[in-house]
Amino acid sequence: GAGQARDLPLAGRYVVITAGGTREPLDPVRFLGNRSSGKQGVALARAAAAAGARVHLVAAHMDVPAPGNVEVTRVETALELREAALAAAEGADVVIMAAAVADFRPAQPADAKIKKRDDVADPVVVLVRNPDILRELVTRRAEHDGGPELIVGFAAETGDAETGVFEYARQKLERKGCDLLVLNQVGKDLVFGQDSTAITILDRDGSAPASFSGSKDATAAAIIERVGSALKPR
Ligand code: CTP
Ligand code: CA
Repeated sequence: GAGQARDLPLAGRYVVITAGGTREPLDPVRFLGNRSSGKQGVALARAAAAAGARVHLVAAHMDVPAPGNVEVTRVETALELREAALAAAEGADVVIMAAAVADFRPAQPADAKIKKRDDVADPVVVLVRNPDILRELVTRRAEHDGGPELIVGFAAETGDAETGVFEYARQKLERKGCDLLVLNQVGKDLVFGQDSTAITILDRDGSAPASFSGSKDATAAAIIERVGSALKPR
């Protein structure tokens, strides 16, 4: 009936989701990239739209098409993603940073295609740090009134001998200051680009972590459900 859309958990909410992997130019034809497929972000966009939200997807390079029912801004680099995400976040209720943002970019991309030459030394690439967009979203919210009610970060972590995967995730949540952190456990049979995944949702209040595994659609639905229940009712 007419009341149906209103009853959806994210009805009337505006959700910004970043997805895919940024590409940092070395020259006009080459880039530094990463293996992010964009599948998780796209699944989140679909799940948020299905939950009744207005969705704006800020998409870096993705192996999969964007959903048809969401607004899409395409970006290449971390700097472009920053611009687009900060602009889209104006008035957003929720920002979900699912994109794999390059930590570094070539300091001085060449204007012309780099050629190999026998008379000069092989090139050395100098990298500089990209801005941390998630931290910037959190800092901006703290400095101004308003801002997104919920800021969600992602982390792909593996544990090591000294520190477990949850401990790394907990530290990242503290460092970033976001409200929720979705831990993607990367390991032996859990690889980039796969359709199934195992995630754990951590929150800043230190509630018990909630783990889910299954298809990216199923885990996205679980994340969106958690987002819905973390928002103050209105
Ligand atoms: N992120 C971001 N801006 C960056 C790097 C990361 O907004 N320049 C966001 C990602 O989209 C993700 C979260 O921060 O939501 C965590 O990313 P991750 O790469 O795990 O964290 P880093 O702080 O870059 O730490 P690490 O050294 O482990 O890569
Ligand atoms: Ca990183």
